[in-house]
Amino acid sequence: MTITISSLSVPMIDGVISLMDQGDPFIRARTASDYWAYATLFSSTCPVAFVDGVLAGAVTAFRSQDDPSGVYVQDVMVHPDHRRQGVATALLDSVVVQARTWGCTRLWLTSEPGNRAADASWRARVWTNLPGDQEVDGVEVKSNFKGPGKDRAVYELLI
Ligand SMILES: CC(C)(COP(=O)(O)OP(=O)(O)OC[C@H]1O[C@@H](n2cnc3c(N)ncnc32)[C@H](O)[C@@H]1OP(=O)(O)O)[C@@H](O)C(=O)NCCC(=O)NCCS
Repeated sequence: MTITISSLSVPMIDGVISLMDQGDPFIRARTASDYWAYATLFSSTCPVAFVDGVLAGAVTAFRSQDDPSGVYVQDVMVHPDHRRQGVATALLDSVVVQARTWGCTRLWLTSEPGNRAADASWRARVWTNLPGDQEVDGVEVKSNFKGPGKDRAVYELLI
């Protein structure tokens, strides 16, 4: 099995939307216009993974303009047929490489309370679950972090 990482490009957008469509309930595909912007403006932190030539995973991430030391990871999605093969690890490693090139010191992301696979995945890669104001299944969660009713577990990776 060979994992190949590429930067998101416009011709890949339909495939990425089909991939993200399989992420329910934790990931929902964004619009083609959103992915056009990611491919055109943020491709170096929006890697796509191919396993033996088949699109198997994608990450969208962005360097913050408000705090340029940080890269925010928006979505991490691996096709159900390709999980536990190191695809998310390879995708996030490529974001770390780019972030270090810029001199960034931190990646961070949020996941929904109850997303056990995500929590296990971040912890396995030594991300820290930041303190919240409630605990859900042993995970620290910040209430209303992304707006009313949008509680999120917040994780960071210092690089
Ligand atoms: C979370 C997700 C991205 C992980 O992707 P992945 O490619 O399977 O992760 P990796 O293969 O790189 O896993 C690395 C390590 O994380 C841990 N891990 C990953 N998924 C796990 C699971 N379901 N249960 C327990 N541990 C898990 C393991 O320690 C794993 O190493 P191992 O397989 O050698 O034991 C994937 O399950 C997914 O796409 N889920 C749906 C979308 C989603 O919820 N995204 C996160 C919210 S943004």
